Amino acid sequence: RTIYLKDYRPPAFLIERTELRFALGEDSTQVESRLRLRRNPAAATPAAPLVLDGEDLELLSVRLDGRDLAPGEWVQDAESLTLANVPDAFVLEIVNRIKPQENTRLEGLYKSSGNFCTQCEAEGFRCMTYYIDRPDVMSVFTTTVVGEQARYPVLLSNGNPVEKGVLDDGQHFVTWHDPHPKPSYLFALVAGNLSCLEDSYKTASGREVALRIYVEPHNIDKCDHAMASLKKAMRWDEQRFGLEYDLDIFMIVAVDDFNMGAMENKGLNVFNSKLLLARPDTATDLDYERIEGVIAHEYFHNWTGNRVTCRDWFQLSLKEGLTVFRDQSFTAEVTAGTVKRIDDVRMLRSRQFVEDAGPMAHPVRPPSYMEINNFYTVTVYEKGAEVVRMYETLLGREGFRRGMDLYFERHDGHAVTTDDFLAAMADANGEDLSQFQRWYEQAGTPRVTVEDAWDAASGRYTLTLRQSCPATPGQPEKRPFLIPVAVGLLDAQGRDMPLRLAAEAQAAGTTRVLRLTEAEQQWVFEGLVERPLPSLNRGFSAPVRVSYPYTETQLAFLAAHDADAFNRWDAGEQLATRVLLGLIADIQAGREPALPERFLTAFAAVLTDAGLEAAVKAEMLMLPSENWLAEQMDVIDPDAIHAARSYARRALAGELEAQWLGLYHTHEVSGEYRFDPRDAGRRRLRNLALSYLAALDGKPMRQLAASQFEQADNMTDSLGALAALMLIDGAEREQALATFYDHWRNDPLVLDKWFALQASAQRPDTLARVEQLMQNPAFSIRTPNRVYSLIGAFAGNPTGFHAADGSGYRFIGAQVETLNALNPQVAARMVGVFTRWRRYDAGRQAQMRAELERLQGLDLSRDVYEIVSKSLQ
Ligand code: ARG
Ligand code: ZN
Repeated sequence: RTIYLKDYRPPAFLIERTELRFALGEDSTQVESRLRLRRNPAAATPAAPLVLDGEDLELLSVRLDGRDLAPGEWVQDAESLTLANVPDAFVLEIVNRIKPQENTRLEGLYKSSGNFCTQCEAEGFRCMTYYIDRPDVMSVFTTTVVGEQARYPVLLSNGNPVEKGVLDDGQHFVTWHDPHPKPSYLFALVAGNLSCLEDSYKTASGREVALRIYVEPHNIDKCDHAMASLKKAMRWDEQRFGLEYDLDIFMIVAVDDFNMGAMENKGLNVFNSKLLLARPDTATDLDYERIEGVIAHEYFHNWTGNRVTCRDWFQLSLKEGLTVFRDQSFTAEVTAGTVKRIDDVRMLRSRQFVEDAGPMAHPVRPPSYMEINNFYTVTVYEKGAEVVRMYETLLGREGFRRGMDLYFERHDGHAVTTDDFLAAMADANGEDLSQFQRWYEQAGTPRVTVEDAWDAASGRYTLTLRQSCPATPGQPEKRPFLIPVAVGLLDAQGRDMPLRLAAEAQAAGTTRVLRLTEAEQQWVFEGLVERPLPSLNRGFSAPVRVSYPYTETQLAFLAAHDADAFNRWDAGEQLATRVLLGLIADIQAGREPALPERFLTAFAAVLTDAGLEAAVKAEMLMLPSENWLAEQMDVIDPDAIHAARSYARRALAGELEAQWLGLYHTHEVSGEYRFDPRDAGRRRLRNLALSYLAALDGKPMRQLAASQFEQADNMTDSLGALAALMLIDGAEREQALATFYDHWRNDPLVLDKWFALQASAQRPDTLARVEQLMQNPAFSIRTPNRVYSLIGAFAGNPTGFHAADGSGYRFIGAQVETLNALNPQVAARMVGVFTRWRRYDAGRQAQMRAELERLQGLDLSRDVYEIVSKSLQ
């Protein structure tokens, strides 16, 4: 069954007050709810029955205005409870029972490491009790949690605690009240034996907020970074957007079993423990950075998501795209901005562009879905963030802020749409942004083709931009987008030229944002003394593919000189992509591959450039990923891609061995581990040098890696060494793996890194290794983090998954089948690797398709069915 945006109707009833009582038990949990309902004056039909959502609930009783209803007075089916003929305003009391202990889907109320917790977004609330489970029904919640005092000393829910007490039989209770009306998806409940790190925060207006991070007792020494990140994020949101926190307490809980990253429940965020726990010896720099970003993301949702929420789930990007943009801006401002931008664009191109070109392609605001959980995608999140960034590019930083202020002024406390967001941006700035709407409605990655002409006699330089967008499922034709293309022009020395467009009196600035609105448009720059080299889409101002016929020399020139640091990296990336595609073609044609001299020179220049910041240098020395290269080919050849990239790494390591060693030795970080962008950049570059040297597999490298592995006092260096050792053959590798395992056997989050490294190894015996690791006592198919690190890493291993004999496909297909019955959300994420089957050679196509067809014949969850059926369409 497909749900369409065009079918949206306002809810027939509103819920003014929600009172809940959860009696947590070892066998089952009893839920009592008391709802104050009234007809929605804005409802489409005046006398509609009351329909409540509910799944897998054992209904015990229903009372209306104090009167017990007989079973004939309601109609119950697998997904709802319907009451016809209800008054216009009434109180409904429902009692039902659920079994959190048996909940393997991790939606609604479930148990994790002996504790109770919830995940309600998007539609998990209905797995706990009957409710109007949609985001445009906002209610004031009061929640009483009752549980055994010894097992569950900590009882939490949203808002402020208002009452607590001891009951008979060793039970106790806490009542929580959240004064802010909220949709059910923001509800949360946690109960367990948890330790708490406490701190406090004084808001800009002087209110004290208690901050509490709850974890299992043995993890209490891994919360400091999360707490510091939270305070940083709270300050940043005040300073950048004037947004303050609005309750007396802010709580975060870490849980081990969690489908996604984290969840912004009002006043009570719940986190996957891998995105919260960090200690220098257990978490890498990348973990530290992600934790800071995700803590900020969930905190920022308090305004963009909670205070102003979504009218329906088609509007998901209203909160997610905007909040990702806010967390990206935060990270860029507290760390090295360029590196963050490069990482974000790398990820957008290698994952979102791929999604946009496949059978699951959908606009930032999808027009339909079968299962909403399948739409927590890179398109809704990351492309959605780029769409928000384009407002800022078009309107300027102040203009964007004016738009945000108006958005909150108009919509605080309401459930709204992306149209409302666009209108606030437009109205606050007196602009007509109606064409911008197409970014929400049309799927696919636009292509911008650039042509230039130089007239030496008049000093005029003309840029012609043409846009097009490939067809996507259900959208054969696209209308032109409003595309902000930031452009600069370089002179022969590599300096930016001042820019003056025809009809302008004087030059203004060196980067101009061209507003491309038509299929084809021209801009004429005047007063130039020499033919410039264009630098296009600076800072990745629009999420598009740009093509301009650069020569390799010009790309190398841009990589060395462009004033826009992002474009400097991007020019190098384009050059490397071209070179690697050439090597792939050589290998496919049976020719001996050879690295072009020009590329080697440009690469060496970056490697030895003393003026480059370490983190940026590391970005520039990383070769394009195998997935990104795959995307550039008409028929993907995973073997040739891997062979070409390995060849290039070996050649770059061999030709520049002394320089790599030099880099390695000069970038040692002294002193105690600190997570700071400068130190992290040095560690990143040093570990990159080690991984290049590993391609040579010589004795010096083995010694370096082994001694780094032994001496490391932090996980970044320990894992960097282990990853390098994974690239070589021999006893050192197995020894290091065994040492690592022995040391960390009781820390599942660290073992996840160990699982992932082995599953991503591009070696012939990897599948056998993964199958063996599934028997390891530390592995469990019921814990999403284990599945992602072992099975997910293998699915993302191009040589493993795409093994020509089809063994990888059959293996992942079998895991999807198992997971489908246990946890549909996790299964759906694992089956995603099959969607691109049409891009491969006939042999692989046939095998992937056979696996998809086999799956389609099974009794599938909605989640997996949607992806499998759309892939085969
Ligand atoms: N809203 C959460 C976030 O901050 C993600 C929740 C995803 N949940 C799901 N069932 N898909 O990104
Ligand atoms: Zn989010």
